[in-house]
Amino acid sequence: MRIAVMGTGYVGLVTGACFADLGNHVICADVDEDKIGMLKDGEIPIFEPGLTEIVRINAKMGRLEFTTDIEDAVKDSKIIFVAVGTPQGADGEADLNQVKAVAETVGKAMDGYRLVVNKSTVPVGTGDVVGQIIEESQTENHPFDVVSNPEFLREGSAVHDFMHPDRVVVGCSNQAAGQMVAELYEPLDAPIIITDILSAEMIKYTSNAFLALKISFINEIANICDGVGADIKEVVAGVGMDGRINPAFFGAGIGFGGSCFPKDTLALIDIAAKAGYDFRVLRSAVDVNYDQPKRFVKRMGEELGGLNGKKVAVWGLSFKPNTDDLRESPALGIVRLLKDEGADVTAYDPASADGAKAEIPWLVTAENPYDAAKAAEALAVVTDWNMFKEVNLEKLKGLMARPLIFDGRNIYDPEKVRAAGFEYYGVGRR
Ligand SMILES: NC(=O)c1ccc[n+]([C@@H]2O[C@H](COP(=O)([O-])OP(=O)(O)OC[C@H]3O[C@@H](n4cnc5c(N)ncnc54)[C@H](O)[C@@H]3O)[C@@H](O)[C@H]2O)c1
Repeated sequence: MRIAVMGTGYVGLVTGACFADLGNHVICADVDEDKIGMLKDGEIPIFEPGLTEIVRINAKMGRLEFTTDIEDAVKDSKIIFVAVGTPQGADGEADLNQVKAVAETVGKAMDGYRLVVNKSTVPVGTGDVVGQIIEESQTENHPFDVVSNPEFLREGSAVHDFMHPDRVVVGCSNQAAGQMVAELYEPLDAPIIITDILSAEMIKYTSNAFLALKISFINEIANICDGVGADIKEVVAGVGMDGRINPAFFGAGIGFGGSCFPKDTLALIDIAAKAGYDFRVLRSAVDVNYDQPKRFVKRMGEELGGLNGKKVAVWGLSFKPNTDDLRESPALGIVRLLKDEGADVTAYDPASADGAKAEIPWLVTAENPYDAAKAAEALAVVTDWNMFKEVNLEKLKGLMARPLIFDGRNIYDPEKVRAAGFEYYGVGRR
């Protein structure tokens, strides 16, 4: 199958590389010339485990190409995946400008039947909008279908998630078009849910909203644990084993971030409002998430007797481990809050230090976690990279001015850390 993927970001590049790996001919198109230039040179613009190998192998085999010529990509392919950004717009609604621009180009460039598959996360009803734009942009009347195929991959394990999905959702009004998309996924041996376009679009927001709810819910339980002396890890172990609940996305910490949950929760609140419904539970989840990093920094200030002039080490900057993505990272939020309180912050992150410095010019970063902790009066662990779990506690203690750890991701065993001579505060830990 000849496929074009519009947008070579976290979703588009993984989608393109994986479909190429499954034996299709894929052309990935993007308006960002630097990104495409890097990809043509075999360099991967993002940090994503396993992606470099799969891109290089498939490019070498001639199955994966890159271009900035969007029209050419449309002409070259029968199936066009749309994987451009849908960032947060005014009032929380999703900004559809990139999706609309692609739809217009497709309409103008198509010279025969095209199947347009929307993988971007878009408000319910966008399938129709895309169809209308394509129709209005055409100079000749070529047939086309629009299918919704939301993506559920997680950054940090994106290639694995794409290749091993829990399910594939295909929303269509023309069953034959839906079937064509379903066939692309058949080699993955995953359940394929074929539904209507509106429901498919709703499925994506519902999934993300529910996961965000789970995180805010368990963060509130952790905050209560802090007050009553229970331990959130014990609570989650006991509750998560209930098959109706399950332990995924059920860890307490400094809150959710990233390129999806923050914007998708707000977008669903906006979708609901436009449909005349006040989505109260989700609004609360967003509020709780907004407060969680503040609580963490407040706690640090209380233990340190104020943060002004205090030397603080911060481990982690990306919104989660195994990615360099800084979008809506609660770690960056904490760095900013610490600075606002007058702390002297030195941070370390194995993948996103340069990106963070581009965003926060005053940010001081270290070459490794130990250097960041030198002479620090406190260490805040705010992204749960594995390398932080395996740290040499004795060495760390020797470097710090005061052996005090604030574990924003609950990665350490409090007893072990305390036995190593540290003062330890987690989120909801005894
Ligand atoms: N990142 C995730 O983990 C994830 C997971 C599931 C779904 N999604 C959704 O997938 C979509 C893409 O997310 P992302 O994180 O990959 O975004 P991204 O910002 O990393 O990538 C978007 C890419 O689209 C390109 N682009 C913009 N306008 C274009 C145009 N007119 N033609 C061609 N390319 C264009 C940009 O240059 C950029 O490279 C969003 O709707 C997002 O909500 C993201």
